[in-house]
Amino acid sequence: MKKILGIIGSPRKLGNSEIMVKEISRHISVPHELNLLRLQDFKILPCRGCYQCLFKTEGCVLDDDLNAVLKVLVDADALIVSAPTYFLGLNASVKCFLDRGLSFYSDIERLWNKPAVGVVTTGIRGKEGYSLLGIQSFLKLIFADDKDSRVVYGALPGEVFMDEENTRTAKELASALFAPTAERKGPCCPQCGGDTFRFMDNTTVRCMLCSNSGKMRVADGRPTFEVGKSDHEFFSSKAAVLEHKQWLLGMRSRFIQQKKALKEITRQYLKQGIWIKP
Ligand SMILES: Cc1cc2nc3c(=O)[nH]c(=O)nc-3n(C[C@H](O)[C@H](O)[C@H](O)COP(=O)(O)O)c2cc1C
Repeated sequence: MKKILGIIGSPRKLGNSEIMVKEISRHISVPHELNLLRLQDFKILPCRGCYQCLFKTEGCVLDDDLNAVLKVLVDADALIVSAPTYFLGLNASVKCFLDRGLSFYSDIERLWNKPAVGVVTTGIRGKEGYSLLGIQSFLKLIFADDKDSRVVYGALPGEVFMDEENTRTAKELASALFAPTAERKGPCCPQCGGDTFRFMDNTTVRCMLCSNSGKMRVADGRPTFEVGKSDHEFFSSKAAVLEHKQWLLGMRSRFIQQKKALKEITRQYLKQGIWIKP
């Protein structure tokens, strides 16, 4: 029996994000139990950027529910992540959890490569902005294997299933979850499968998912992306993740080495401006 964890990033009970997760689960043929976690039910404080979690064996210094969420995440065999578009991006609960991601590095072995699918529920057709990129990025940065992520449209709670197309999407995501990872259809980054690019100049592009750069060329009317690996990868392989972890751990000694010079820079800004406090 597989344990599937549905991570919902919407505050709305029985909203479109929640019922998408449940619909996907109904079409998964692999025997499973569906555990559900609404991020908004948990106290997840904003990361303070202190890096203590990397060095302390007890983990993050903040007193909240992060470890409870991490535990269910680690215990899951597969993930369905679903969140609404808010102001052209993903609901902030997902980013707030992701911002605590330095704490995930202590569990790389157990988090690595969990099969996952993502859904973004969006009120107005075509108005998802960068929210699909947000969910793809979330899955990569929690070290999951993004089998497929999609946008579905529907504004009112339940409205997603007034459209047959969304039921079909749920079925497709259900089939994708435990299937071998499919080749991405359509133009995409050869490194990570990302399909969102920033133009750096007329031909140079940067993939907004893996943040690697390369050239875009058009051959037979089709764009192709020649994007290579960089010497600092975030999630392309487990070895790359472990290498990035070592880089992060090296921050302490880099800080100690350069402490004087860094202080010299920041000191010059100490007395500037009038702080407005709550
Ligand atoms: C604060 C807020 C901002 C929203 N921003 C967008 C938006 O930028 N684009 C869009 O198409 N829909 C937007 N919506 C609509 C939701 O994406 C849509 O209703 C979605 O189905 C909600 O999912 P839920 O039922 O799981 O909460 C917004 C909704 C709220 C409450």
